[in-house]
Amino acid sequence: MKLDIEVVRDNLDNSLITELKYFDSVTSTNELALDKEYNLVKEGMVIIAGEQTKGRGRLKRNWSSPQYQGLWMSIILLPGQEYKDKLSLLTLIGALSVHEAIKKSGINSTLKWPNDILYENKKVCGVLSQFKSIGDKINRVVVGIGVNVNQKEFDDKLKESSVSLRMIKNEKINKEKLLIEILDNFSIYYSLFKNHQFNKIIEKWKSEMDMLNKNITINSLDGKNYRGKVIDITQSGELKLKLDSGKNKTFIAGDVSIDKKSLKY
Ligand code: BTN
Repeated sequence: MKLDIEVVRDNLDNSLITELKYFDSVTSTNELALDKEYNLVKEGMVIIAGEQTKGRGRLKRNWSSPQYQGLWMSIILLPGQEYKDKLSLLTLIGALSVHEAIKKSGINSTLKWPNDILYENKKVCGVLSQFKSIGDKINRVVVGIGVNVNQKEFDDKLKESSVSLRMIKNEKINKEKLLIEILDNFSIYYSLFKNHQFNKIIEKWKSEMDMLNKNITINSLDGKNYRGKVIDITQSGELKLKLDSGKNKTFIAGDVSIDKKSLKY
C-alpha cells in the first residue's frame, strides 16, 4: 500500500525534519537529492519514493526497491565545513536510527559496519551517503536509506542475502509508524552530532554492533583484502582492526565479511 505521507507529517516529533517530499516513482531518491536541477539544498528535507527504478547501493551495486514494499528515502543535510572530517558518522547515524526503530518492534537486528542492518546475517536495511561538493566545500550530504519492509519474498538472486521485516515478523508492517520512528531517532542523533557529542554516537554503535573482537576480512578502497580482528570504531567512524600481522590499521570504507566461525547463523 502507498505510504500515507500526511499521517507521517502529522505525527513527527522532531526538530530536524523540515519538509517531506513524496514521489510515487523515481530513479533514485539519492539521485534526485543530488541533482543540480532540483536544487534541493535544504537541511532536514526528506525525499521519499513509492518505488525506485534505479535504486543505488554501495559500491555501484543496484538496490532493489519494489513499489510500496519498502521505505526508500534520502535525508538532505547541510552540516557545515567544521564537520567535514566527521561526515562518515552520518552513515552510522542513519543505520543506528533504523536499527533502533526496528528493535522497538521486537526484532533482534544487528549493525554491520558501516551501513548494514542484518537479521540472522541477511540484510534488512542499507544506507548510502553521498556528498555534493562545490570546489572543496561540502554543499550538502544526502543520507540514503533503504529498508526492506513488506516484501513477501525475494527473487533467487537476493533471497540468500536479503530479508524483509514482514518475513521476520510474519505480519504486515505499518510503514508510517516505522518512518516516524526512524526520522525521530535520526533527529536525536543528528543533534548529538551537531553538538560535537560524537563519542555518544560511537559508543551506542559499538554497543549495538555484533563485530567487536570478531575476525573479519575487509575489501578496502585500495582494492586489497585485509584480515584481522575488529578492535574499535574511531571518533570519525572508521573501523579499526588488529591485522593478522599484528599491526593496527583503520579503514574509512570497505566491504566487510565476518568470518564464518564468528557467525551465529
Ligand atoms: C547498500 O547497502 O548498498 C546501500 C543501499 C541504499 C539504498 C537506499 S534506497 C534510498 C536511497 N536511494 C538510493 O538510490 N539508494 C538509497
